[in-house]
Amino acid sequence: MKLQPVRGTHDLIGADLDRHNWIINTARKIANCYGCDEIATPIFEFSQVFKRTLGEQSDIVNKEMYTFEDRGGDSITLRPEGTAPIARAFISEGLSQQIPLKLFYQGPMFRYERPQKGRQRQFHQLGIEYIGLPQSTADAECISLAFNILSALGVDPLVTLEVNSIGDEASRNAYRQKLVSYLTAHEKDLSADSQTRLKLNPLRILDSKDPKDQPIIAKAPILEDSLNEESKQFYQTFLNSLDAMKIPFQKNPRLVRGLDYYCHTVFEFKTTHLGAQDAVLSGGRYDTLISQMGGPATPGVGFAAGIERLALLATREIPKPTPISLIPLGEEAELWALKMSHELRKLQIPVDLSHSGNLSKRMKRADKAKSSAALIVGSEELARGVVTWKDLKTGEQKEIAINSLVSTLQQMMSGD
Ligand code: HAM
Repeated sequence: MKLQPVRGTHDLIGADLDRHNWIINTARKIANCYGCDEIATPIFEFSQVFKRTLGEQSDIVNKEMYTFEDRGGDSITLRPEGTAPIARAFISEGLSQQIPLKLFYQGPMFRYERPQKGRQRQFHQLGIEYIGLPQSTADAECISLAFNILSALGVDPLVTLEVNSIGDEASRNAYRQKLVSYLTAHEKDLSADSQTRLKLNPLRILDSKDPKDQPIIAKAPILEDSLNEESKQFYQTFLNSLDAMKIPFQKNPRLVRGLDYYCHTVFEFKTTHLGAQDAVLSGGRYDTLISQMGGPATPGVGFAAGIERLALLATREIPKPTPISLIPLGEEAELWALKMSHELRKLQIPVDLSHSGNLSKRMKRADKAKSSAALIVGSEELARGVVTWKDLKTGEQKEIAINSLVSTLQQMMSGD
């Protein structure tokens, strides 16, 4: 039996899981400030949910999905992302009466990619979807939300926001023609991957990291020049909204996203601190996704961030409640300490209680538990109705009467 985790997956334990949860809770709190509700969709869906929406030629559908036939003969896929399942839920749960909807979500996603720093096969995303808001100010509000999450995590100095517009379908078709005729003239100099993409999904060539493609991409026609009036207007009001909020950004005319459902706004918060995996938080507008899946024509815009990538950047210490160590000496005190710790924990006072060892061993343990104080009690103290309280930072020591212990500790913990 193989006992290691499957390649590209990780156990989250102790401090790592604390950081993971802190990131989610911070994002959730901020999402609440924007009026978001939370949604949790299943981690697997019928494969069509992804195949018909992300793009048959997208990397995800082409080579990264965990797809299997279940015992009933249905083709099932572990979700590689959260937007298509939420669009599916919007339709199947009949949520169209509730628009505009603002949704927060988080959870594991699955992609069969080559694992490296910041890239896993089971990874976790947190994300936002605004459904039913056609205005570009909604796109800007999503970015405001993303920006405030990144700031609260302390990673805003490590990321740069890049934005682009890929316009509406008409603008994109006009651009695709220009791009294909330009790239066809350079076809033999393109990388093998890009030569294939030229036939299947030419816009994705702009995203190529292959050095062979770089000089060709650098001279390629610019998408913004092909935007029709409506798309230009949409992009401009979006940019004005970012300016109004003083959110710094860079226009990247070559930013195209790897999923087919996008239109108009696309954006990525990128970092130079994670090697090849530079996208920390990415998203955009998807006005035709829901109708394409068979639902009522409903616009959407949103983003998702990789929690593992955020965790690699958000290295600040996470506040944890400091416990008090209860140190009983002798059988009678052991039982008293168990009873007292039960009572204190009921009041949500964190207590570190050791079950064995002499005084010095237990004091060492209190240090390890990062306790603020130790309460030392033996049968002699119990007989006098007191415990010895020792401040573990200053070494100061005093006696506290047992009958006022709970209220004294409550006061101490609330900082009075
Ligand atoms: P995405 O760009 O495919 O977009 O993924 C979003 C984020 O997930 C990335 O920026 C990255 O931080 C993280 N990520 C992706 N793949 C991995 C991986 N293998 N390991 C670790 N982290 C990863 C979406 O998923 C869209 N659904 C975003 C969206 C929401 N667009 C509109 N609404």
